[in-house]
Amino acid sequence: MTTIKKIGVLTGGGDAPGLNAVIRAVVKAASNAGVEVLGLEDSFDGLIYPEKSRPLTPRDVTGILRRGGTILGTVNRGNPFATPITTPDGTFDYVERVMEMFERTALDALVCIGGDGTLSISHEFSKKGIPLVGVPKTIDNDIVGTNSSFGFDTAVSFATEAIDRLHTTAEAHRRIMVVEVMGRYAGWIALHGGVAGGADVILIPEIPYDLDRVVQCIRDRDAWGARFSIVVVAEGARPKGGAISLVEEARDGQAERLGGVGMRVAKELDTRTGKETRYVVLGHLQRGGAPTAFDRTLATRFGGKAVEVLLNGQFGMMVANHPPDIVPVPLGDVVGKIRTVPLDYDLIHTARALGVSFGD
Ligand code: F6P
Repeated sequence: MTTIKKIGVLTGGGDAPGLNAVIRAVVKAASNAGVEVLGLEDSFDGLIYPEKSRPLTPRDVTGILRRGGTILGTVNRGNPFATPITTPDGTFDYVERVMEMFERTALDALVCIGGDGTLSISHEFSKKGIPLVGVPKTIDNDIVGTNSSFGFDTAVSFATEAIDRLHTTAEAHRRIMVVEVMGRYAGWIALHGGVAGGADVILIPEIPYDLDRVVQCIRDRDAWGARFSIVVVAEGARPKGGAISLVEEARDGQAERLGGVGMRVAKELDTRTGKETRYVVLGHLQRGGAPTAFDRTLATRFGGKAVEVLLNGQFGMMVANHPPDIVPVPLGDVVGKIRTVPLDYDLIHTARALGVSFGD
Protein backbone atom coordinates (compact mmCIF):
# COMPACT_ATOMS: atom_id res chain seq x y z
CA MET A 1 0.00 0.00 0.00
CA THR A 2 1.21 3.52 -0.85
CA THR A 3 2.47 5.33 2.23
CA ILE A 4 1.15 8.88 2.09
CA LYS A 5 3.79 11.46 3.00
CA LYS A 6 2.97 14.30 0.62
CA ILE A 7 -0.32 15.24 -1.03
CA GLY A 8 -1.32 17.87 -3.57
CA VAL A 9 -4.57 19.83 -3.29
CA LEU A 10 -6.29 21.65 -6.16
CA THR A 11 -9.55 23.46 -6.89
CA GLY A 12 -11.14 23.29 -10.35
CA GLY A 13 -14.19 24.58 -12.23
CA GLY A 14 -16.36 27.53 -11.17
CA ASP A 15 -15.68 28.69 -7.61
CA ALA A 16 -18.13 28.08 -4.77
CA PRO A 17 -18.15 29.46 -1.22
CA GLY A 18 -16.44 26.89 1.00
CA LEU A 19 -13.46 26.02 -1.24
CA ASN A 20 -11.08 27.69 1.20
CA ALA A 21 -12.70 25.88 4.12
CA VAL A 22 -11.91 22.54 2.41
CA ILE A 23 -8.31 23.59 1.69
CA ARG A 24 -7.89 24.64 5.32
CA ALA A 25 -9.30 21.35 6.61
CA VAL A 26 -7.08 19.31 4.25
CA VAL A 27 -3.94 21.22 5.27
CA LYS A 28 -4.67 21.04 9.01
CA ALA A 29 -5.73 17.38 9.03
CA ALA A 30 -2.79 16.33 6.84
CA SER A 31 -0.27 18.36 8.80
CA ASN A 32 -1.49 16.92 12.10
CA ALA A 33 -1.03 13.45 10.59
CA GLY A 34 2.57 14.28 9.56
CA VAL A 35 1.71 14.66 5.86
CA GLU A 36 3.07 17.55 3.76
CA VAL A 37 0.71 19.48 1.48
CA LEU A 38 1.50 21.11 -1.85
CA GLY A 39 -1.06 23.68 -3.04
CA LEU A 40 -1.60 23.40 -6.81
CA GLU A 41 -2.74 26.63 -8.45
CA ASP A 42 -5.40 26.93 -11.16
CA SER A 43 -6.57 23.32 -11.01
CA PHE A 44 -4.30 20.81 -12.82
CA ASP A 45 -2.16 23.70 -14.14
CA GLY A 46 -0.48 23.46 -10.73
CA LEU A 47 1.01 20.13 -11.80
CA ILE A 48 1.75 21.16 -15.37
CA TYR A 49 3.72 24.34 -14.64
CA PRO A 50 6.28 23.97 -11.79
CA GLU A 51 5.98 27.64 -10.83
CA LYS A 52 2.27 27.14 -10.11
CA SER A 53 2.60 25.19 -6.88
CA ARG A 54 3.58 26.07 -3.34
CA PRO A 55 3.78 24.27 0.01
CA LEU A 56 0.84 24.91 2.32
CA THR A 57 1.24 24.79 6.08
CA PRO A 58 -1.33 25.48 8.81
CA ARG A 59 0.07 29.01 8.97
CA ASP A 60 -0.80 29.55 5.28
CA VAL A 61 -4.45 28.65 5.84
CA THR A 62 -5.07 30.62 9.01
CA GLY A 63 -8.04 32.92 8.57
CA ILE A 64 -9.34 31.50 5.28
CA LEU A 65 -12.30 29.55 6.71
CA ARG A 66 -14.67 32.44 6.18
CA ARG A 67 -13.28 33.62 2.82
CA GLY A 68 -15.12 33.06 -0.48
CA GLY A 69 -13.25 32.17 -3.68
CA THR A 70 -10.14 29.97 -3.49
CA ILE A 71 -6.60 30.87 -2.43
CA LEU A 72 -5.36 28.41 -5.08
CA GLY A 73 -7.23 29.95 -8.03
CA THR A 74 -9.31 27.91 -10.43
CA VAL A 75 -9.97 27.47 -14.14
CA ASN A 76 -13.05 26.31 -15.99
CA ARG A 77 -11.64 25.11 -19.27
CA GLY A 78 -14.04 22.46 -20.53
CA ASN A 79 -12.29 19.34 -21.75
CA PRO A 80 -8.51 19.81 -21.27
CA PHE A 81 -7.67 16.38 -22.74
CA ALA A 82 -8.15 17.67 -26.26
CA THR A 83 -5.53 20.42 -25.99
CA PRO A 84 -1.73 19.93 -26.05
CA ILE A 85 0.19 21.77 -23.33
CA THR A 86 2.96 24.20 -24.23
CA THR A 87 5.49 25.01 -21.49
CA PRO A 88 9.04 26.46 -21.63
CA ASP A 89 10.19 22.78 -21.75
CA GLY A 90 8.22 22.07 -24.94
CA THR A 91 4.78 20.89 -26.06
CA PHE A 92 3.24 17.88 -24.36
CA ASP A 93 0.16 15.72 -24.40
CA TYR A 94 -1.96 16.90 -21.44
CA VAL A 95 -2.33 13.50 -19.78
CA GLU A 96 1.34 12.56 -20.21
CA ARG A 97 2.46 15.89 -18.76
CA VAL A 98 0.24 15.56 -15.66
CA MET A 99 1.35 11.94 -15.07
CA GLU A 100 5.01 12.83 -15.48
CA MET A 101 4.82 15.92 -13.26
CA PHE A 102 2.96 13.99 -10.56
CA GLU A 103 5.97 11.65 -10.36
CA ARG A 104 8.53 14.46 -10.57
CA THR A 105 6.85 16.45 -7.80
CA ALA A 106 7.15 13.40 -5.52
CA LEU A 107 3.48 13.53 -4.59
CA ASP A 108 1.82 10.42 -3.17
CA ALA A 109 -1.79 11.47 -3.75
CA LEU A 110 -4.11 14.32 -4.74
CA VAL A 111 -7.22 15.93 -3.24
CA CYS A 112 -9.24 17.28 -6.18
CA ILE A 113 -11.98 19.72 -5.19
CA GLY A 114 -14.46 20.47 -7.95
CA GLY A 115 -17.72 19.91 -9.76
CA ASP A 116 -18.56 17.27 -12.30
CA GLY A 117 -15.97 18.54 -14.83
CA THR A 118 -13.05 18.40 -12.38
CA LEU A 119 -14.27 15.13 -10.87
CA SER A 120 -14.50 13.56 -14.36
CA ILE A 121 -10.94 14.66 -15.19
CA SER A 122 -9.81 13.34 -11.78
CA HIS A 123 -11.51 10.03 -12.46
CA GLU A 124 -9.53 9.70 -15.72
CA PHE A 125 -6.23 10.32 -13.85
CA SER A 126 -7.31 7.91 -11.14
CA LYS A 127 -7.83 5.19 -13.77
CA LYS A 128 -4.31 5.91 -15.02
CA GLY A 129 -2.92 5.25 -11.56
CA ILE A 130 -2.80 8.56 -9.68
CA PRO A 131 -4.03 7.93 -6.11
CA LEU A 132 -6.63 10.61 -5.43
CA VAL A 133 -9.88 11.56 -3.75
CA GLY A 134 -12.53 13.97 -5.05
CA VAL A 135 -14.45 16.55 -3.02
CA PRO A 136 -17.83 17.64 -4.48
CA LYS A 137 -18.24 21.39 -4.97
CA THR A 138 -21.04 23.28 -6.68
CA ILE A 139 -23.66 25.84 -5.87
CA ASP A 140 -25.94 23.92 -8.28
CA ASN A 141 -26.24 20.92 -5.89
CA ASP A 142 -26.37 18.63 -8.92
CA ILE A 143 -23.57 16.14 -8.17
CA VAL A 144 -24.73 12.53 -8.09
CA GLY A 145 -23.92 10.37 -5.06
CA THR A 146 -23.97 13.08 -2.40
CA ASN A 147 -26.94 14.51 -0.58
CA SER A 148 -25.42 17.98 -0.89
CA SER A 149 -22.34 19.83 -2.05
CA PHE A 150 -20.90 22.88 -0.32
CA GLY A 151 -21.72 26.26 -1.87
CA PHE A 152 -25.39 25.42 -2.35
CA ASP A 153 -26.53 26.63 1.06
CA THR A 154 -24.71 29.96 0.58
CA ALA A 155 -26.27 30.44 -2.87
CA VAL A 156 -29.75 29.65 -1.51
CA SER A 157 -29.27 32.03 1.42
CA PHE A 158 -28.26 34.81 -0.94
CA ALA A 159 -31.20 34.12 -3.29
CA THR A 160 -33.55 34.13 -0.30
CA GLU A 161 -32.30 37.50 0.89
CA ALA A 162 -32.62 38.92 -2.62
CA ILE A 163 -36.22 37.66 -2.87
CA ASP A 164 -37.00 39.20 0.53
CA ARG A 165 -35.76 42.55 -0.74
CA LEU A 166 -37.72 42.25 -3.98
CA HIS A 167 -40.90 41.56 -2.02
CA THR A 168 -40.97 45.02 -0.49
CA THR A 169 -40.40 46.89 -3.74
CA ALA A 170 -42.80 44.60 -5.67
CA GLU A 171 -45.50 45.26 -3.09
CA ALA A 172 -44.91 49.02 -3.07
CA HIS A 173 -45.28 49.26 -6.87
CA ARG A 174 -47.76 46.40 -7.28
CA ARG A 175 -45.43 44.87 -9.80
CA ILE A 176 -44.40 41.43 -10.92
CA MET A 177 -40.73 40.84 -10.07
CA VAL A 178 -38.95 38.04 -11.91
CA VAL A 179 -35.72 36.70 -10.36
CA GLU A 180 -33.39 34.53 -12.45
CA VAL A 181 -31.14 32.25 -10.41
CA MET A 182 -28.30 29.89 -11.38
CA GLY A 183 -28.30 26.09 -11.26
CA ARG A 184 -27.62 24.98 -14.85
CA TYR A 185 -29.92 22.03 -15.67
CA ALA A 186 -31.14 21.52 -12.09
CA GLY A 187 -33.71 23.57 -10.19
CA TRP A 188 -32.35 23.15 -6.66
CA ILE A 189 -31.43 26.82 -6.07
CA ALA A 190 -34.72 28.07 -7.57
CA LEU A 191 -36.81 25.62 -5.57
CA HIS A 192 -35.09 26.07 -2.20
CA GLY A 193 -34.54 29.83 -2.60
CA GLY A 194 -38.06 30.27 -3.96
CA VAL A 195 -39.71 28.42 -1.09
CA ALA A 196 -37.53 30.09 1.55
CA GLY A 197 -38.26 33.51 0.02
CA GLY A 198 -42.00 32.87 -0.32
CA ALA A 199 -42.12 33.07 -4.14
CA ASP A 200 -45.51 32.76 -5.82
CA VAL A 201 -44.22 31.07 -8.96
CA ILE A 202 -41.13 28.84 -9.27
CA LEU A 203 -40.00 27.70 -12.72
CA ILE A 204 -37.41 24.90 -12.79
CA PRO A 205 -35.80 22.91 -15.62
CA GLU A 206 -37.42 19.69 -14.40
CA ILE A 207 -40.94 21.08 -15.05
CA PRO A 208 -41.27 22.83 -18.45
CA TYR A 209 -43.60 25.79 -17.99
CA ASP A 210 -46.73 27.07 -19.71
CA LEU A 211 -46.94 30.85 -19.29
CA ASP A 212 -50.75 30.73 -19.45
CA ARG A 213 -50.64 28.89 -16.12
CA VAL A 214 -48.33 31.51 -14.66
CA VAL A 215 -50.59 34.33 -15.89
CA GLN A 216 -53.58 32.56 -14.30
CA CYS A 217 -51.75 32.29 -10.97
CA ILE A 218 -50.95 36.03 -11.05
CA ARG A 219 -54.57 36.92 -11.93
CA ASP A 220 -55.81 34.71 -9.07
CA ARG A 221 -53.51 36.56 -6.68
CA ASP A 222 -54.79 39.91 -7.97
CA ALA A 223 -58.35 38.67 -7.51
CA TRP A 224 -57.87 38.17 -3.78
CA GLY A 225 -55.98 41.44 -3.47
CA ALA A 226 -52.28 40.51 -3.51
CA ARG A 227 -51.57 42.77 -6.52
CA PHE A 228 -47.86 41.89 -6.67
CA SER A 229 -46.14 38.61 -7.48
CA ILE A 230 -42.67 37.14 -7.18
CA VAL A 231 -41.57 34.73 -9.91
CA VAL A 232 -38.32 32.76 -9.41
CA VAL A 233 -36.90 31.30 -12.63
CA ALA A 234 -34.00 28.86 -12.80
CA GLU A 235 -31.60 29.76 -15.61
CA GLY A 236 -32.21 26.31 -17.13
CA ALA A 237 -36.03 26.59 -17.15
CA ARG A 238 -37.72 26.39 -20.54
CA PRO A 239 -41.26 26.61 -21.90
CA LYS A 240 -43.16 23.42 -22.77
CA GLY A 241 -42.03 22.39 -26.23
CA GLY A 242 -39.48 25.26 -26.27
CA ALA A 243 -35.73 25.61 -25.92
CA ILE A 244 -33.47 26.57 -23.05
CA SER A 245 -32.18 30.22 -23.14
CA LEU A 246 -28.48 30.59 -23.89
CA VAL A 247 -26.11 33.54 -23.74
CA GLU A 248 -23.39 31.51 -25.47
CA GLU A 249 -23.36 28.24 -27.41
CA ALA A 250 -20.87 25.50 -26.47
CA ARG A 251 -17.52 25.97 -28.23
CA ASP A 252 -13.93 24.67 -28.12
CA GLY A 253 -14.83 22.12 -25.47
CA GLN A 254 -16.42 24.85 -23.29
CA ALA A 255 -19.92 24.15 -22.01
CA GLU A 256 -22.80 26.30 -23.22
CA ARG A 257 -23.64 29.32 -21.00
CA LEU A 258 -27.20 29.58 -19.80
CA GLY A 259 -29.07 32.84 -19.26
CA GLY A 260 -31.80 35.13 -20.51
CA VAL A 261 -34.90 33.24 -19.42
CA GLY A 262 -35.68 35.82 -16.70
CA MET A 263 -35.90 38.63 -19.24
CA ARG A 264 -37.91 36.43 -21.60
CA VAL A 265 -40.46 35.49 -18.91
CA ALA A 266 -40.69 39.09 -17.63
CA LYS A 267 -41.39 40.54 -21.08
CA GLU A 268 -44.13 38.02 -21.76
CA LEU A 269 -45.75 38.46 -18.35
CA ASP A 270 -45.71 42.23 -18.77
CA THR A 271 -47.52 41.94 -22.12
CA ARG A 272 -49.94 39.23 -21.14
CA THR A 273 -50.98 40.54 -17.70
CA GLY A 274 -50.73 44.26 -18.46
CA LYS A 275 -48.90 44.61 -15.11
CA GLU A 276 -45.57 46.38 -14.83
CA THR A 277 -42.90 43.68 -14.65
CA ARG A 278 -39.20 43.93 -13.83
CA TYR A 279 -36.51 41.28 -13.77
CA VAL A 280 -33.26 40.74 -11.86
CA VAL A 281 -30.49 38.26 -12.68
CA LEU A 282 -28.64 37.23 -9.51
CA GLY A 283 -25.77 35.73 -11.51
CA HIS A 284 -22.36 35.38 -9.93
CA LEU A 285 -23.42 37.17 -6.74
CA GLN A 286 -24.70 33.71 -5.77
CA ARG A 287 -21.14 32.36 -5.86
CA GLY A 288 -19.43 35.26 -4.13
CA GLY A 289 -18.87 36.20 -0.51
CA ALA A 290 -18.46 34.25 2.68
CA PRO A 291 -19.81 30.71 3.04
CA THR A 292 -22.70 30.13 5.45
CA ALA A 293 -22.12 28.22 8.69
CA PHE A 294 -23.65 25.13 7.04
CA ASP A 295 -21.25 25.30 4.07
CA ARG A 296 -18.21 25.93 6.30
CA THR A 297 -19.09 22.87 8.34
CA LEU A 298 -19.80 20.65 5.33
CA ALA A 299 -16.62 21.82 3.59
CA THR A 300 -14.58 21.17 6.75
CA ARG A 301 -16.08 17.68 7.11
CA PHE A 302 -15.32 16.93 3.44
CA GLY A 303 -11.71 18.13 3.77
CA GLY A 304 -11.04 16.15 6.94
CA LYS A 305 -12.65 13.04 5.48
CA ALA A 306 -10.70 13.36 2.21
CA VAL A 307 -7.40 13.14 4.13
CA GLU A 308 -8.68 10.20 6.20
CA VAL A 309 -9.76 8.36 3.04
CA LEU A 310 -6.33 8.83 1.45
CA LEU A 311 -4.52 7.71 4.61
CA ASN A 312 -6.74 4.59 4.59
CA GLY A 313 -5.51 3.84 1.07
CA GLN A 314 -8.98 4.30 -0.48
CA PHE A 315 -8.30 5.87 -3.88
CA GLY A 316 -10.56 6.84 -6.79
CA MET A 317 -13.30 7.88 -4.38
CA MET A 318 -15.37 11.03 -3.77
CA VAL A 319 -16.32 12.04 -0.25
CA ALA A 320 -20.10 12.34 -0.04
CA ASN A 321 -22.67 13.65 2.40
CA HIS A 322 -24.88 10.74 3.45
CA PRO A 323 -26.46 12.19 6.60
CA PRO A 324 -25.45 11.75 9.34
CA ASP A 325 -22.14 10.57 7.86
CA ILE A 326 -19.55 11.64 5.31
CA VAL A 327 -18.63 8.53 3.33
CA PRO A 328 -16.40 7.67 0.35
CA VAL A 329 -18.21 6.64 -2.86
CA PRO A 330 -16.51 5.45 -6.08
CA LEU A 331 -15.86 8.33 -8.50
CA GLY A 332 -16.85 6.01 -11.35
CA ASP A 333 -20.40 5.87 -9.95
CA VAL A 334 -20.92 9.63 -9.87
CA VAL A 335 -19.15 11.35 -12.78
CA GLY A 336 -20.82 12.29 -16.06
CA LYS A 337 -24.29 12.44 -14.52
CA ILE A 338 -26.55 15.21 -13.21
CA ARG A 339 -28.66 15.04 -10.06
CA THR A 340 -31.84 16.92 -10.91
CA VAL A 341 -34.77 17.67 -8.60
CA PRO A 342 -36.99 14.56 -8.37
CA LEU A 343 -40.58 15.35 -9.32
CA ASP A 344 -41.82 13.50 -6.23
CA TYR A 345 -39.60 15.61 -3.92
CA ASP A 346 -41.66 16.58 -0.88
CA LEU A 347 -40.69 20.25 -1.22
CA ILE A 348 -42.44 20.38 -4.60
CA HIS A 349 -45.57 18.77 -3.11
CA THR A 350 -45.52 21.11 -0.12
CA ALA A 351 -45.03 24.20 -2.27
CA ARG A 352 -47.90 23.16 -4.51
CA ALA A 353 -50.08 22.55 -1.43
CA LEU A 354 -49.33 26.13 -0.36
CA GLY A 355 -50.45 27.47 -3.76
CA VAL A 356 -47.06 27.96 -5.45
CA SER A 357 -47.33 27.59 -9.22
CA PHE A 358 -44.68 25.63 -11.14
CA GLY A 359 -46.19 26.81 -14.41
CA ASP A 360 -47.62 23.39 -15.27
O1 F6P B 1 -21.96 25.52 -12.04
C1 F6P B 1 -21.97 26.71 -11.32
C2 F6P B 1 -22.45 27.84 -12.18
O2 F6P B 1 -22.45 29.03 -11.40
C3 F6P B 1 -23.80 27.63 -12.85
O3 F6P B 1 -24.87 27.80 -11.97
C4 F6P B 1 -23.74 28.65 -13.97
O4 F6P B 1 -24.57 28.28 -15.05
C5 F6P B 1 -22.29 28.57 -14.37
O5 F6P B 1 -21.57 28.06 -13.27
C6 F6P B 1 -21.70 29.90 -14.77
O6 F6P B 1 -20.41 29.68 -15.21
P1 F6P B 1 -19.35 30.83 -15.48
O7 F6P B 1 -18.78 31.23 -14.15
O8 F6P B 1 -18.37 30.17 -16.36
O9 F6P B 1 -20.08 31.97 -16.11
